[in-house]
Amino acid sequence: MINLADTLERMSADDDLTLLQSLEIDQIWFVRDHVRIGLSDYWIDCLDGPIVTVGGVPHRFPELGSHEALWSLIDKTVAFATLDETKALKLELTDGSSIEVPLDGDLPFSERIVIGGGPEKIIWPIDAVASVRRIKLAHPLIEEDELRAVALALSSGQLAQGPRVAAFEAEFAAYVGVKHAVAVNSGTAALHVALLAHGIGSMSRGGSPDDEVIVPAFSFAATANCALQAGARLVFVDVREHDFNIDTDAIAAAITPRTRAVIGVHLYGQMCDTDALSATCERNGIALIEDAAQAVGSTLNGRNAGSIGAGCFSFYATKNLTTGEGGMLTTNDDAIAERARTLRSQGERTRYVTEELGWNYRMTEPAAALGSVQLRKLDAQNERRRANAARLNDLLRNVGGIATPTDLDGRHHVWHQYTIRVTAGREARGAMQAGLREKGIESAVFYPTPIHKQPLYQRLGLGGAELPVAQRLSDEVLSLPVHPGLSDQDIESIAAAVREIAR
Ligand SMILES: Cc1ncc(COP(=O)(O)O)c(C=O)c1O
Repeated sequence: MINLADTLERMSADDDLTLLQSLEIDQIWFVRDHVRIGLSDYWIDCLDGPIVTVGGVPHRFPELGSHEALWSLIDKTVAFATLDETKALKLELTDGSSIEVPLDGDLPFSERIVIGGGPEKIIWPIDAVASVRRIKLAHPLIEEDELRAVALALSSGQLAQGPRVAAFEAEFAAYVGVKHAVAVNSGTAALHVALLAHGIGSMSRGGSPDDEVIVPAFSFAATANCALQAGARLVFVDVREHDFNIDTDAIAAAITPRTRAVIGVHLYGQMCDTDALSATCERNGIALIEDAAQAVGSTLNGRNAGSIGAGCFSFYATKNLTTGEGGMLTTNDDAIAERARTLRSQGERTRYVTEELGWNYRMTEPAAALGSVQLRKLDAQNERRRANAARLNDLLRNVGGIATPTDLDGRHHVWHQYTIRVTAGREARGAMQAGLREKGIESAVFYPTPIHKQPLYQRLGLGGAELPVAQRLSDEVLSLPVHPGLSDQDIESIAAAVREIAR
């Protein structure tokens, strides 16, 4: 074993690489901006050129310039490795293939990857890396341009109610093809404001506690909660198995003289049948609210999500477009847009003149700056999701015991989630999820309980409705990773794992 302290005493700049090559690396891990190469009792930090720390004293290796030189040491199987902006470790292997290892904050990499460990010179155990590596369900794409835009917003001196929010609104309205986009700080806020701006519910000026809002029972709870928040009554209807979305035939039976709105959810990134829905709403003089939280960029027969009724988008951290937390209301109706702007800001059209009960639902400038950059990349990212989903559908189509999701004609699905059904039900789905977890593949159930069966809604006496499709789907659905950060190899691994577990 080399005595590193002695060697450092003797070395000259020209010796740097030779010295490093002679070291016995036994671990590599990641701590914030640093790659750390463990050398039994020592480690090397690679940030602005390798630094070897011995007994707490750092020694620089300026000649090596960047950590890339250090990586050249790992020459047996890894040809080249870099840390990219999104804090992923990219390894290009000597056989021409590559892998990408996403890194979690400051989680010590050593928990997941150990290299070598013996007196032998390092040989990267790629199989071990692959087997301990986690394939995440979601991974926000934050690159240099997002970081720069947010930094500029932060240093601009104006953190709220400034030009970046206005610019993001204009860009988003143009993208969706509507007259107005009103930025808010969550998708839930967008839904709440949409109902209030239509004068629906006892909390709204002009609304009544008898106002009824029809919602699908199979969705995220916010879809329904907003009606309670507005002080309206909820009427739950069932969904369809083939697209997980609201059963437009069931709506006719649910409409009463008190119905004021239908909330159509575009679940998992595929639009619900807004053609049928808007015809029903128009015929009955009721508002159509599109819960497009999961569907930014999707279309139906050429019409964009959020351009048909009042569109409510979420930019939560896992969404196809993210601002961390955030949302947007889109509309072609001047009066609805103006009222929404008032409602998101304390009910004030003019500063310090409270016209009606409002909230603080405003988006911040850094969030809007992030949103503008994300919007520019959205179509390309959605295309990657579509390619991933198409490949998964090919690989999983004939696997027994599971049903793959449909990509219906005329709909441009943006695959916020890729959701299979494990048709044998809850127990088999649990086993599938556990098997995937063991193989380092994340999955999730969206959603394990239909909304009307949630404790809140049971307590309110709404739990009795018989909605068999919503119930069955909540027993069967399982979402697999489909995000744009996945490699082709990841997709193959996910499909291979599902096949193996389903066998
Ligand atoms: C279908 C649906 N509706 C509403 C929301 C609420 O959005 P947010 O989390 O931004 O409040 C979400 C978010 O996950 C959602 O998926």
